[in-house]
Amino acid sequence: MIKVESLTKRYARTVAVDGISFEVEKGRIVGFLGPNGAGKTTTMRVLTCFMPPTSGTARVAGFDVLQQPLEVKKRIGYLPESPPLYPEMEVVEYLRFVGRLKGIPKSAVDRRVDEVCERCAITDVRTRLLSKLSRGYRQRVGLAQAIIHNPDVLILDEPTAGLDPKQINETRRLIKSLAGDHTIILSTHILPEVEQTCEQVIIIDKGKLVATDTVENLTHRLRGSETVAVEVAPRDGALETAEVQRRLEQVPGVSRVIFKETRDNRHRFEVESLEGRSVRGALARSVVEAGWDLVELHATALSLEQIFLQLTASEDGGAAGGKP
Ligand SMILES: Nc1ncnc2c1ncn2[C@@H]1O[C@H](COP(=O)(O)OP(=O)(O)O)[C@@H](O)[C@H]1O
Ligand SMILES: [Mg+2]
Repeated sequence: MIKVESLTKRYARTVAVDGISFEVEKGRIVGFLGPNGAGKTTTMRVLTCFMPPTSGTARVAGFDVLQQPLEVKKRIGYLPESPPLYPEMEVVEYLRFVGRLKGIPKSAVDRRVDEVCERCAITDVRTRLLSKLSRGYRQRVGLAQAIIHNPDVLILDEPTAGLDPKQINETRRLIKSLAGDHTIILSTHILPEVEQTCEQVIIIDKGKLVATDTVENLTHRLRGSETVAVEVAPRDGALETAEVQRRLEQVPGVSRVIFKETRDNRHRFEVESLEGRSVRGALARSVVEAGWDLVELHATALSLEQIFLQLTASEDGGAAGGKP
C-alpha cells in the first residue's frame, strides 16, 4: 500500500531524511518510532504530498507522490502534528467544510459528518466552537477530518502527544478500531505506544532507518535480557556498597551489576541478566539470605535510547545505506 525507496529530504542545511526505504502492507497499523528530530514529520509530509522529496520515491496505492499527487491525496487522511483548526468554526461546520474540500458531494456530506462524529465520539460537541475544545476532543476532531473521505491510508503524526492517560487510551482504542478499513502509519517517540497499538514498527534515528520489523520480533529481540533495579539496605548497622555489589554479581544469570547511588543508607544498583535469563527471584533470595533488606526490586523498561543503542550495536549502526 505504501512503498518508500531511498527517500531523502534535505532542508537548507539539514538532511532530515536520509535514504530510507520501507514498505507497508494493506490494512496494517505501523508505528513510526524515533526520537525528536529523527525525521518522522518530514517523512509524513512527503507521503502526504505537503512537500516534495529531494530524491528517492514514495508511492501510495501505486501512485507516486511527485507525479500523481491528486491521486495520492484522495487516498490519504492526514492528522498533522498540530492540526490546523479554524478556531471560530463549529465542529460540524468544520467537518462539512473539510468534507466538501475532499470531494464529498453536498447531498452526502451531512450524513458522512454524522458518521465520523459517531465514530470518533465527538457527537456531544458537534456544535461547540473549535477554540473551546479540550486537547483530547481537538485530537478526535482531527481524526474525524482525516477519515471523512474514507481514505485507504491514514497518516497520524504523534496522535497521542499532549493527551492525558485516559484520553491516550481512548485515542488508541479509536485508532485500533480504524485499522482493517485503513492502512495506518502513526508516529511516536515512545515505545509503549508502538507495543500497544501497532503490528509493525519502523525505527528511524537522525534521518536513517535503524530497523523495521514486526513488534513481536522486535520486543522479543530486545527483551532477550532483562534489566532490574535493586535497592538494598542493611537490617542494622552499616553495609559496604562493594559487598552488596560482589554478592549481586555472584547470582546465577547476572551479566553485569552497575552501582547507581547510596541514599539514606540504601544502595541502589542496576542489574543486567544474561540473554534469555530471568534473575529477579534469585536476586531477591540472595539479598535476603545475606541478611539484608530488599527495599526494592523491579524490572526496568527499556528506554528508546537503550533500544537504539542495542539495535545500532547489533546491526552495524545502520550506517551503510540505512538497510536493516
Ligand atoms: N522546515 C524546516 N526547515 C529546516 N529544518 C527542518 C524543518 N523541519 C524540520 N527540520 C529539521 O529536520 C530534522 C527532522 O525533523 P522532523 O521531521 O520534524 O523530526 P521528528 O518529526 O522526528 O521530530 C530536524 O533536525 C529538524 O530540525
Ligand atoms: Mg515530528
